[in-house]
Amino acid sequence: MHVERFAPRLIAWQRRHGRHALPWQGGAAGDAYPVWLSEIMLQQTQVETVIPYYQRFLARFPDLATLAAAQQDEVLGLWSGLGYYSRARNLHQAARRIVAEHGGRFPRQFDAILALPGIGRSTAAAIAAFAYAEPRAILDGNVKRVLARVFGIDGWPGERAVQERLWALAEALLPGGEIRAYTQGLMDLGATVCTRGRPGCERCPFNVECLANIQGRQRELPAARPKKTLPAKRTAMLVMLHAGEVLLEKRPDSGIWGGLWSLPECAEQDDPARAAEQLGYPARLTGELPAFEHVFTHFRLTIQPWRLQVDRLAGAAEPGRIWLALDDLDGAALPTPVRRILSALKA
Ligand code: ADE
Repeated sequence: MHVERFAPRLIAWQRRHGRHALPWQGGAAGDAYPVWLSEIMLQQTQVETVIPYYQRFLARFPDLATLAAAQQDEVLGLWSGLGYYSRARNLHQAARRIVAEHGGRFPRQFDAILALPGIGRSTAAAIAAFAYAEPRAILDGNVKRVLARVFGIDGWPGERAVQERLWALAEALLPGGEIRAYTQGLMDLGATVCTRGRPGCERCPFNVECLANIQGRQRELPAARPKKTLPAKRTAMLVMLHAGEVLLEKRPDSGIWGGLWSLPECAEQDDPARAAEQLGYPARLTGELPAFEHVFTHFRLTIQPWRLQVDRLAGAAEPGRIWLALDDLDGAALPTPVRRILSALKA
């Protein structure tokens, strides 16, 4: 997708298919108060839910001065049911700050808007664009999704580097004019077409160029938050061989691999030949097998297998131990990583 073609196409689409009758649209140009109120309510809440709250709030607090003069209880009361009440407290506080510091007029400068409580970079940009027709880039969750898909941006948008790429892209896409239709178009496309589940790609003005659509990656983009990193543990496994057989130990019934036959283990830093001898089998270290990672639900285990040769056996294995022929791996009750080690050894 050509960066320069994005905005004209989106603006044309917004004029035909976007939303034009929302209650906060078409207010007096330059009056930022209703725009501000709507953007705060819309931060975490969908349009249909917001509309009646917005109307009640505006009927009771028609301008900034009325809001600033109100009791906090009443402000919170009108917010009741919308959730995220810090939004209401910040809104009220900001109104009082505007009265105290800006003579009661909503600030016109972007940096002054951004400095108000409850207003981040994207909300400040939306207010500047809608209220003052100032070309500013927005980047809320919907916009991140649209851009990640159309331009095929990998990585979780919560990650700093990805976030910075998206902001740079959002800035680069800005049109020379018609910033209101453009900004509304981004929001409308994200909310009505480029939705999280089941996006309506057949109705999208970018479907021919959209990398996610072309590659069928709508479900993968934007990338989800990475799973919490699991605690890492390490162990060494002793692959003790004698006459084509390997020594296995039965795991206790409780705990990982309960009841399965596993390789004897020692700490990673231990001398494997010493560890084998302590088990009652004098052995020679004959090789270091490649270490690998096995992921459990609650931790990751890095396994270092050591290969040892047991030359002489005093007798049969004691209870809880067996010598298993490498040819008999198939039906044995082995943990997956043990099977992996032994299969590799056989091959
Ligand atoms: N979401 C955030 N701001 C919005 C707006 N002005 N119109 C529709 N959805 C929005």
